[in-house]
Amino acid sequence: MSGRRPSLPFDPWDPAFVADPYPAYAELRARGRVHYYEPSNQWLVPHHADVSALLRDRRLGRTYQHRFTHEEFGRTAPPPEHEPFHTLNDHGMLDLEPPDHTRIRRLVSKAFTPRTVERLKPYVDGLADDLVSALVDAGGGDLLTDVAEPLPVAVIAEMLGIPESDRAPLRPWSADICGMYELNPPEETAAKAVRASIEFSDYLRDLIAERRTHPGDDLISGLIAAHDEDDDRLTEQEMISTCVLLLNAGHEATVNATVNGWWALFRNPDQLAALRADHSLVPTAVEELMRYDTPLQLFERWVLDEIEIDGVTVPRGSEVAMLFGSANHDDEVFADPERLDLTRRDNPHISFSAGIHYCIGAPLARIELAASMTALLTKAPALRLAAEPERKPNFVIRGLKGLLVEV
Ligand code: HEM
Repeated sequence: MSGRRPSLPFDPWDPAFVADPYPAYAELRARGRVHYYEPSNQWLVPHHADVSALLRDRRLGRTYQHRFTHEEFGRTAPPPEHEPFHTLNDHGMLDLEPPDHTRIRRLVSKAFTPRTVERLKPYVDGLADDLVSALVDAGGGDLLTDVAEPLPVAVIAEMLGIPESDRAPLRPWSADICGMYELNPPEETAAKAVRASIEFSDYLRDLIAERRTHPGDDLISGLIAAHDEDDDRLTEQEMISTCVLLLNAGHEATVNATVNGWWALFRNPDQLAALRADHSLVPTAVEELMRYDTPLQLFERWVLDEIEIDGVTVPRGSEVAMLFGSANHDDEVFADPERLDLTRRDNPHISFSAGIHYCIGAPLARIELAASMTALLTKAPALRLAAEPERKPNFVIRGLKGLLVEV
């Protein structure tokens, strides 16, 4: 139609786009540094330099509620029936800004320093060995359910002190809550997230009460002690929200990074062969696979004070959607970005974000990804694909429905 701007090469509801968004991202980058996208009422930012700068820019925030009411910000409050999800979500550090974010992050970060996490390495390596041995004994299986999921779930549950017998609902609760992080989630997704938020919160409220009387050496007991004693205390809601955030963030992306990574290796046999021949490539391989098929594709920020991107004014009250997958394929930063290169050393990928919300679990995720990769390379040296995998339809949280393999 004359006068109408051509539509953007971006359609997160199109399975073909989700299957391989990277060519479309290249076109989006070529067409400009910021694009208003009507279907989600967001400003898309596809370049690495801009994403990197915006993540550190205090004129943007994961929330606006510390500064404005919904009305002042030109937004409507979420419907009251979604309240349990928002109460849970809005009190976790990921959706808080300073000073609340700083207070909670300071407490939690003690459990995630590279040194503390390094001490978990033998446990994580042992777990990976056991899971992969079982897969090998069975002649193969689903890498997703047999290795990728149980490893990070067990690690984060163990750190928080969730008893083994209570762990089965953690994955479905997390999946239902994470549905809300896709663009424009439908009401059915919201209803599931609300139900999961209520059940998960109730479970943790009881567990926290139990730990208050019978403390252990787990993270929940540590947070309770801080709640009861420190100046930096957490409210009960913040404690519940922190635990849910840790449990969900603590496995969701790692699961997907594992299966996306192996799927990329199977599609690039020369790179898999090089890795098999030289296991010392594991650290750069982990980074490159997270760049090459970015497990979390998009993160949002509210514009708290007007900004300008490449001469375009983005007003207060807008929402910016930073395209991590695109930033990770930006040829202004990465040489030959569409090529999987497990030896890539200059690799400033943005998959763990940047700025104040930089992934607190990055050192742990790296240990987990390296552990499962090393165990699979060592114990299943001829691992191969048993069937073409199917992608999950989600765009933001990028994953596979399963990854069937033979040994
Ligand atoms: C491959 C695995 C992982 C990836 C790709 C990943 C990615 C991310 C990203 C992109 C953010 C920031 C989002 C933003 O800026 O808006 C983040 C934050 C966070 N991640 Fe991770 N993550 C991973 C694993 C983990 C693990 C294992 C944990 C462990 C406990 C974890 C806990 C968190 C927490 C608590 C935050 C919030 C930090 C804050 O708001 O200050 N993540 N992660």
